[in-house]
Amino acid sequence: MSKPRENHREDVAGRANVEDTPELLAYYEELERFDAGALWTVANKIEPWQPKSSSIPVLWRYSDLRESVLRSVDLVTPEKAGRRVIYLNNPGRRDVSAAVGWLYSGLQVMNPGEVASAHAHSASALRFIMEGSGAYTIVDGHKMTLGANDFVLTPNGTWHEHGVAADGAPCIWQDGLDIPLVNCLEANFYSVHPEGQQAVGYPVDDMVNTWGNPGLRPSENQWSRGYSPLLKYEWNKTYDSLSNYARATDGSVFDGVLMNYVNPVTGGPVMQTIGASMQMLRPGERTKAHRHTGSFMYQVAKGEGYSIIDGKKFEWRERDIFCVPSWAWHEHGNNSSSEDACLFTFNDLPVMWSLGLYREEAYGDNGGYQKIA
Ligand SMILES: [Fe+2]
Ligand SMILES: [Fe+2]
Repeated sequence: MSKPRENHREDVAGRANVEDTPELLAYYEELERFDAGALWTVANKIEPWQPKSSSIPVLWRYSDLRESVLRSVDLVTPEKAGRRVIYLNNPGRRDVSAAVGWLYSGLQVMNPGEVASAHAHSASALRFIMEGSGAYTIVDGHKMTLGANDFVLTPNGTWHEHGVAADGAPCIWQDGLDIPLVNCLEANFYSVHPEGQQAVGYPVDDMVNTWGNPGLRPSENQWSRGYSPLLKYEWNKTYDSLSNYARATDGSVFDGVLMNYVNPVTGGPVMQTIGASMQMLRPGERTKAHRHTGSFMYQVAKGEGYSIIDGKKFEWRERDIFCVPSWAWHEHGNNSSSEDACLFTFNDLPVMWSLGLYREEAYGDNGGYQKIA
């Protein structure tokens, strides 16, 4: 007896539309015995007309999460946990522990005097500091001090560790990684540093002092790795740059005043698989809707406003996190008529670009604004 099986038919010329017959069902079973199958039964499913993200737009409110994140300090030590992180689990991506698409995100908390063990992995990582003082990250011997809204890279393959100085305050930051992507590509390795911690081999913040000077590059220093040598992007410099740019541009109708964090050597993305940007929505600004390929995690760095994602409105404020899945319509608004709002994002755009998969589209109806469902 033939059992019911999937057959994704579409009554459209050029698409698979084969009706089941007893003879075909028997044939499909025969194929299955050889670990094979008839493409026309699944073609319409595996080749959709356009991307259909299994990720759901989600807003993670900091006011909901903060207390739970801080409780983890009493429940586990960083020694036992490896990394004491509460990860953001998109309801549509639980099978791969992703926050959106193939991107992972988590909130890590550390108390003054705590240090996490040094390690390295194939996944590229970044952190965006949410609160606290005295935090630092060491990447391949380069130590960086971190304050709120600073953005730091821990690129793939680098030894890295985090800690908070004994005289600091409890720190919480967002970790962003491409763990799900690297796992999907079956290319992930993980190593624990043989000495537990790594030695600091350079003056503190040397990479920022060497590579973080606007419009200037050191004459002596060579850099040929696939990621930015500027391992930390400070908030004050970023905000000043956006404020300056805002005086010179009308900005983008879709993004307001947006600047990409770049590798100062190439002008390209900060890492090979993850890009990042900061955008400013000027007082009262409302952007138009568009959609594009690529998965985006947003963190509100400043101000309050809202985003409409696939027709659903999400109100956000400072330190809230939300995601925009690939090919989802999205637009943003600043609720304040006097203060600007700033959104930090990290995304997999470098992957989309380098694989030739980037596409975008403007929302055509209703003057470019989505109707709220
Ligand atoms: Fe790591
Ligand atoms: Fe966008």
